Amino acid sequence: MRKPLVAGNWKMNGSRDAAQDLIAGIRRGFEAGVSADVAICPPFVYLTQVGGLLDGSDIALGGQNVSQHESGAYTGEVAPAMLADVGCEYVILGHSERRSYYGEDDALVADKVVAAHAAGLKPILCVGETLDQREADRTEAVVASQLDALLNSAEGLAALKTGVIAYEPVWAIGTGKTASPQQAQDMHAFIRQRVAAKDAELGAKIRILYGGSVKGNNAAELFAMADIDGGLIGGASLQVDEFLTICQAAQ
Ligand code: 13P
Repeated sequence: MRKPLVAGNWKMNGSRDAAQDLIAGIRRGFEAGVSADVAICPPFVYLTQVGGLLDGSDIALGGQNVSQHESGAYTGEVAPAMLADVGCEYVILGHSERRSYYGEDDALVADKVVAAHAAGLKPILCVGETLDQREADRTEAVVASQLDALLNSAEGLAALKTGVIAYEPVWAIGTGKTASPQQAQDMHAFIRQRVAAKDAELGAKIRILYGGSVKGNNAAELFAMADIDGGLIGGASLQVDEFLTICQAAQ
């Protein structure tokens, strides 16, 4: 049985005050009981603050990106060991915003996933197609190549064994357009089969999250699908009530 995971990706939003209010609200809501795993991924500069605010809770901390390098002269970058050092358990990698705005390709994303794993972090590998790719019937081919960058190497496969996959169709991110539960389930099943073809045990065990306009009012129907093991939440993770409703839907 896979334990659901809900991860809040704050993206480039927030402030010290907003983080304080948001975490206080989420922790109050958790007193009513949430059985899913939950992680919060704030911007780098708030990791230490949010980590402190989460102390003594079961909520995990995660980063939104990391360097593929261990350390050294890489101005502006953050090393995997640094994320581990400030208490991160997870790191989101290959988000479509990193792929499209910062030119991260499948090979770079794979290097980051491997580097994160080497530092003891659990990578959350994001995959997903654009609207053009879906309309051109290339959804499976695109997602397959994003996965194969990891599945085709021993280190990549090893890194995925501690990791999580997030299917985020680009056309559903921040647009209010959610994939239908069946559209999402079809892709989750495809992803699971592709992993299972390399490693049957991993295919059965790996958590595959759905992301893209998940809200309090659509989370339960998505999470009810057989291969959807929780969500990667953007906008709704910045609102206490919405985020709590989503966490509660992932029981
Ligand atoms: P939204 O939930 O705002 O659509 O963002 C999804 C996402 O990109 C999470 O990583």
